[in-house]
Amino acid sequence: MPLTSMRQILDGAAKEGYGVGAFNVNNMEQIQAIMEAARQTNSPAIVQASRGARSYTNDLFLYHLMMAAAELYPEIPIALHQDHGNSFQTCKSAIDMGFTSVMIDGSLEEDGKTPASLEYNIRVTREVVAMAHERGVTVEGELGCLGGIEDGHGAGLDARARLTDPDQAVEFVERTGIDALAVAIGTSHGAYKFSRKPDSAILDMDRIIEIHKRLPKTYLVMHGSSSVPKKLQDIINAYGGKLKPTWGVPIKEIQLGIQHGVRKVNVDTDNRLAMTGAIRKYFAEHPEGFDPRSYLKPAREAMKTLVAERMRYFGQAGHAGDYEPIPLSVMAERYSKGEL
Ligand code: G3H
Ligand code: 13P
Ligand code: ZN
Repeated sequence: MPLTSMRQILDGAAKEGYGVGAFNVNNMEQIQAIMEAARQTNSPAIVQASRGARSYTNDLFLYHLMMAAAELYPEIPIALHQDHGNSFQTCKSAIDMGFTSVMIDGSLEEDGKTPASLEYNIRVTREVVAMAHERGVTVEGELGCLGGIEDGHGAGLDARARLTDPDQAVEFVERTGIDALAVAIGTSHGAYKFSRKPDSAILDMDRIIEIHKRLPKTYLVMHGSSSVPKKLQDIINAYGGKLKPTWGVPIKEIQLGIQHGVRKVNVDTDNRLAMTGAIRKYFAEHPEGFDPRSYLKPAREAMKTLVAERMRYFGQAGHAGDYEPIPLSVMAERYSKGEL
């Protein structure tokens, strides 16, 4: 089927009460891993690309790989999402290329690192919403700042420095008209989120519950949601890696979020860890190896296994067949009539 509006997938998820993993991609193997996992578990899929991913792949390669995915997996609804768009222009170029969803991260200024004012965030987010909805494309905004820095994106702040304020969230959603809201609850991007198993002092799940109470119809997004499993850290370190002890977001906390309005769950780092572990293992066991297919195959398989597991945990498994594709032109009409 053609690429699907992310709003349509999130509407389906809200109706049935599940969450949808949004997995980052940078190459063919990662796209294949997600599609195979979606087929195996019969799940709708959100595939997302950061600005870094778009420049690494070149937009055209990425676009045609996604077209191949849509053609090869016709039973899977797939949304293609711009992760952490830093500007109107980034979002517009994604939409021009065929993305069905964009994130405008106006919590930071266009440089991707300076925390922005609420007024700036509202202004740039509204501009993106007007442009995107006119074309039937979904918009995710962000209020509050995640911790750390990823690919030059992030304020490098302590993860608890700018958590999402629930009152401000209501104002932000009302004044911007976004479809989905990314919230800051103490997570960071990357492997080093927490230096101990997180409890409510460092991972503020109550904040999600509070925001959901005030905005029951807004789809919430959890960024920085890799679980950084000890098992994957151990594989990397057993084969020559040097990861320091670290903790991610426990699956049961994500599941609690899903019970309270979280519909999109962003995962990138866990897939990076899974692939890296498999590649390190391959080379440790085959020091003579040099055919990229020999190590990319187990890496792709490791990512597929992880994504399939997440799809089951988040509840999206079994739901691919629930969707009849709605063309973006129809979504645009529905936005303009105020139905969405
Ligand atoms: O935003 C976080 C994602 O993990 C994307 O990372 O910007 O290094 O591609 P990236
Ligand atoms: P992780 O680094 O926890 O996988 O988060 C990814 C993310 O939030 C992408 O936007
Ligand atoms: Zn993110």
